[in-house]
Amino acid sequence: MRYAQLGDVPAKRHVQFRRNGTLLTEEVLGFEGFSGNESILYHLHSPCRVREVGEFVPIVREEWVPETHVHRLTDTNPIEPGGDWLSGRRLLQFNGDIEVSICKPTDEREGFYRNGEGDEVLFIHHGTGTVETIFGDVPYRPHDYVVIPRGTTYRVTPDDGEQVWLCFHTPGEIETPNRYRNRYGQLLEHAPYSQRDFHPPAELHTHSERADFELSVRVRDGHQTYLLDYHPFDVVGWDGYVYPYSFNIHDFEPKSGRLHQPPTVHQTFQGPNFVICSFCPRRLDWDPLAVPIPYHHSNLQSEEVIYYVDGQFGSRAGVGEGALTLHPSGLPHGPQPGRVEASLGATSTDELAVMCDTFRPLRLTTLARELDDPGYATSWHAQARA
Ligand SMILES: [Fe+2]
Repeated sequence: MRYAQLGDVPAKRHVQFRRNGTLLTEEVLGFEGFSGNESILYHLHSPCRVREVGEFVPIVREEWVPETHVHRLTDTNPIEPGGDWLSGRRLLQFNGDIEVSICKPTDEREGFYRNGEGDEVLFIHHGTGTVETIFGDVPYRPHDYVVIPRGTTYRVTPDDGEQVWLCFHTPGEIETPNRYRNRYGQLLEHAPYSQRDFHPPAELHTHSERADFELSVRVRDGHQTYLLDYHPFDVVGWDGYVYPYSFNIHDFEPKSGRLHQPPTVHQTFQGPNFVICSFCPRRLDWDPLAVPIPYHHSNLQSEEVIYYVDGQFGSRAGVGEGALTLHPSGLPHGPQPGRVEASLGATSTDELAVMCDTFRPLRLTTLARELDDPGYATSWHAQARA
């Protein structure tokens, strides 16, 4: 990310900085000890200040260990809306590198949240609202990726109307791919987006209210609650390279070629042992002999998860908006029968999908079992499609 600043910061770091005579508390919020990216925030109160220590509730994952190893289709549409913007996240797939959930929040949540052990990405399928954070407000709209780095105290204020989010949590860092950046970190000309497409918080609201506020922090694979006697959005200013931001998938500039381009051209983010890619509406391959949809591939060491957002996905029959396919490691996959022929001569696609490839096996939850389409495994069998 680029350097950003919001609110008031002193000219030098680590100096006395006051507001209305009160000495502010400087907090360096950074990664990898003091070697990674960091931001410096100036608080009205010590961020350590806790009035009461509440409960620690371990995260419970109900795992489903399938009896068979097959390609899977999960329809997320039947997931009933419910819960709030945190409790409403319904886990479908996970491993030590990533968790994939669907959230359809309907309820308000009292209090604030901070992920102390992972970065989060909320892909907004449906809905608008605001992610209010200690760094300021990040408004969101359909098809935004909202990236929330660990350490960000926040709450979400969804607007009225349908909300459907695809949520990722990773103990790693969400980054733009190395190959898109020069040695200074600036995005290169060939990158499918530029710094202008990433939107840091635009407005900072400093709260000085003194009252009881609950803060839930995800740590050690659980949620620890604390009771504060001040509003945690007490930052008067910050600067640095760590902050939440939004990136709309339609600002991803897709690449096409004379012949089919590999999924790597769609890469949007990288994390440890996974990538997140955006399949966006685009012109298709223009050679007269081109096959404009993917070739069969055996990506033997990765699991490929695709969430279908909008439009017609060329290589799949029977998947629509809200479907999630999992093509696990060790197996080949490719277009279903008839799709190659149907694609020939196509000049454009309106498909919109988010893909997450993981390089270590994914585990599934009992919710994924409930939503599993057992017919998908044999859907490449021509008779199965007849
Ligand atoms: Fe694939």
